[in-house]
Amino acid sequence: MTTDTGAHPRIRSYVLRAGRVGSGQARALAEIGPQFMLPYQPAMLDFEAVFGRAAPRILEIGFGMGEGLAEIAAAHPENDYLGVEVHTPGVGALLKQLGERGLTNVRVVQHDAVEVLTHMLAPASLAGIHIFFPDPWHKKRHHKRRLIQPPLVSLLASRLAPGAYIHLATDWQDYAEQMLAVLFAEPQLQNTVADYAPRPDTRPLTKFEQRGIRLGHGVWDLVFRRI
Ligand SMILES: C[S@@+](CC[C@H](N)C(=O)[O-])C[C@H]1O[C@@H](n2cnc3c(N)ncnc32)[C@H](O)[C@@H]1O
Repeated sequence: MTTDTGAHPRIRSYVLRAGRVGSGQARALAEIGPQFMLPYQPAMLDFEAVFGRAAPRILEIGFGMGEGLAEIAAAHPENDYLGVEVHTPGVGALLKQLGERGLTNVRVVQHDAVEVLTHMLAPASLAGIHIFFPDPWHKKRHHKRRLIQPPLVSLLASRLAPGAYIHLATDWQDYAEQMLAVLFAEPQLQNTVADYAPRPDTRPLTKFEQRGIRLGHGVWDLVFRRI
């Protein structure tokens, strides 16, 4: 099912690239996929049935190649993680790491996160949401593709339990400013600090970010809580 059946198709935050799937990723998709992948379906997910336990549930949207998600999940076996990503090589790369690390607290949905949020995740069901380095769509005419906009932030906030957090990070200053303005304007959310948060230890430092820091690029973290 898609929500794009109306006269005005929704503008998506991604463009599906063909992207080469490496042999290790292909093997992981075929062999490990069945254990960790959940099919997209327009029905609310029963987390307890999926993970076989009741634990705090954290959603990561757009995990890329999944290094960060695998590391966070390994560091926090007490939490369950749902990763949502559209890019097949990235899904394969995450599955490969889940297999290598023997992680059991991660599941993956390969689908548009907006539809997953709308149709698979119940209101107030999440303890946290991570969105790290969402595509910046830096050309002005592409800004409408940016994920962090008022309707989506309102949807994200509705899926958080009271007191749960949303953590965003970006290395684009004008997107950081947009994030801060949109989250600040969302009545269901409250900032945990005055404006940008110091980088929480819970967000793994990637090679990409280390290189950016060496080159003097900025990174902005935002951590808000559901009221
Ligand atoms: C710039 S990458 C960042 C990846 C990773 N978080 C990192 O920090 O390296 C953004 C990712 O978000 C994914 N993405 C964008 N829009 C999405 C959506 N609506 N649903 C699921 N994934 C999405 C893209 O496929 C891409 O892999």
